[in-house]
Parts: sequence; C-alpha cells; structure tokens
Amino acid sequence: MVKAVVLGAAGGIGQPLALLLKSNPLITELALYDIVNTPGVAADLAHIATPAKVQGFLPADDGLTKTLTGADVVVIPAGVPRKPGMTRDDLFKINAGIVRDLANGIAKSCPNAFVLVISNPVNSTVPIVAEVLKKQGVFNPKRLFGVTTLDVVRASTFVSEILGDLSLSKDIVVPVVGGHSGVTIVPLLSQSSHPLPAGIAQADYDTLVNRIQFGGDEVVKAKNGGGSATLSMAYAGAEFAFKVIRALKGEKGIIAPSYVSLEADAEGAAALTKELGQELAYFSSNIELGVDGVAKISPLGALTDAEKTLIQAAVPELAKNIQTGVNFITEAR
Ligand code: NAI
Repeated sequence: MVKAVVLGAAGGIGQPLALLLKSNPLITELALYDIVNTPGVAADLAHIATPAKVQGFLPADDGLTKTLTGADVVVIPAGVPRKPGMTRDDLFKINAGIVRDLANGIAKSCPNAFVLVISNPVNSTVPIVAEVLKKQGVFNPKRLFGVTTLDVVRASTFVSEILGDLSLSKDIVVPVVGGHSGVTIVPLLSQSSHPLPAGIAQADYDTLVNRIQFGGDEVVKAKNGGGSATLSMAYAGAEFAFKVIRALKGEKGIIAPSYVSLEADAEGAAALTKELGQELAYFSSNIELGVDGVAKISPLGALTDAEKTLIQAAVPELAKNIQTGVNFITEAR
C-alpha cells in the first residue's frame, strides 16, 4: 500500500503529475491538495482504471491534514512559476511562505513521509522545509529531496540530439550535480553513459552546458508569459517519485541525482566536502535510494578542468541560496 500526495495538484505541473501518479499501479491512494479545483481534478482522475483511490481536498475543513494523514510520499509543486525575465530566485518571496506552511502540515500529519520538493527556488525551498521540520523536531535528512530530475532529463535529451539519435535519449545517463538554478546546475558530461563525439568543438560543448543550465528559459520564453516547464517537469517529477517508491518497496541499487541535506550520509558528505573544498549543507549528487530514503551520497568522482570550473562557479551561489532559505525560518519573528 502506497499513499502518494500532490500539494499544488491543480496547477500546470500538479495536474499532469497527478495523472502520471494515477497511472502507476504501485500507488494505492492518491490525495490531491490545492487552494482551488482539486475536487474536479480528483473526480476526473478517479475514472481511470488503475488501483489508486483518488481524493481531492481544499483548505476548508482541515483539508491539508486530511490530505497528508497516512502519506508515504509527498510531492510539492505548489507555488508561482516564472514569467519571462524572471530568475528562480525572484519567486522566493511568494513561494517561501507557501512551502513553509505546507511543511508545517507535513510535520504535523506525516512526519515520516518522503518529501519531494519541486517548488522553486529549489536551492532555497529544500532548506526551508528542513528548517521547519527541525523546528518541529521531526527532521529526517534521509527523507527530504529537491527534485532536480528535469535537469537530468534535459541533459539526456540534448546529448541525444548532439549524437543525432533521439531514440538513445532514454538510455543516456548524465549526472547533473550542484543545485537547480542557472550556474548551480553542473552537468558532468565527461561521465555521460554515452560519450560526446570525440573532438567536439569547445564552442559546441559550451553551448550544450549552457542549454542544460538554462533550458528552463527556453520554455519560459516560448510560453511567453504562460508559465514555465510543466509537462516535462511532471514527467521528470513522476520519474523521480517512481524511483523513490520502488526503493521504499525494497528494490535495491536505484541511483538518481537529487538535492539533499548532507546530514543524510556523513561518510558521503565528508568525501563530497573534500572534493568541493568547502562545506555546504545541501548539494545535488548521485544518491543511492533505499527503504529509509537516502542510503548513500556519491562523491563527484573524476572531473575535467572544465567541470571543475563549473563547480567553482556553482558553490558560492549555492551557499548563498541555502543561507537565504535557512534564514527565512530561523530569523522569522
Ligand atoms: P502553477 O501556477 O500552474 O501551479 C501552482 C499551483 O500551486 C496552483 O494550482 C496554485 O493554486 C497552487 N498553490 C498556490 N498556493 C498554494 C498553497 N498555499 N497550497 C497549495 N497549493 C497552492 O505553477 P506550475 O507551473 O505548476 O509551477 C509550480 C512550481 O514548480 C513553481 O514554483 C515552479 O517554479 C516550479 N518548477 C520547478 C521545476 C523543477 O525542476 N524543480 C521545473 C518547473 C517548475
């Protein structure tokens, strides 16, 4: 029995994500929460012939508590998306408060659930959730994940385009590490399961890195004020959620990059810190998932000089983003 929850389920990401979760027979209960429209979304999904029992809740009548009680996995895409010209950090003012309030609900109703944060800026919203859970005395660093899977999915797709064969994309694995915004997104292309063409021009390599780091902007621009990535994000969010669910059902050896608290694995964190040359409280690296959540944080491994330079640019920006999230809770009056 697996109960999955989507908070922000009526939104651009929330609806297709809920559809994909409803399509997975491993999920037996699906609870949808938003400030609007969830009864309709739930009624619609409930007619799909898969095992999950679907319910939709609104804030009235303690809907958040009803949504979260008994949850195993909680996915959070609640909040506002970017418009052209905005960075993910510009969303902080609104989304920080939304995520804080939802985290308080999680602390109260399902403190042991796996929490998957999609709401941006992920580099700061994950520390916000952690600080709320710490304040309530229920923080388990092994069970909190920032969803960076879309960066990984984009990397697979863009590398397959360079290799001239989109059908390869489903098999291409590129570790994308660091965080989830701009220069904090660091694709380790030298570790791609499918190497780039030998002798790729420096300009083409730089363009590829830039496209992985700023791929979200392509979508924001094309939607022209209509929001940011929703369908590809729902696909990526579901892919990561399914991995977490398979792990909690006992499957071993599942590895995926995710932005996690380095408190989740002291040994892995020590190795990573040595590589980074600086201590960070959160970082996205390849994570081995287990029944209890994060089983192991992998080190970065051998990097090219170009990748080392990207990491050097990412670290100070990440440190700043993390502090912004932490301060939002610890300095709140
Ligand atoms: P959207 O505006 O279409 O949907 C957001 C939903 O959140 C709306 O239905 C809204 O009613 C709901 N909401 C607002 N306040 C809420 C609250 N207090 N409780 C529950 N629900 C609430 O936005 P979209 O496109 O679905 O994006 C959602 C978030 O995901 C944004 O912050 C966006 O930046 C982020 N995102 C993250 C990505 C990632 O890779 N991690 C990629 C793309 C977007």
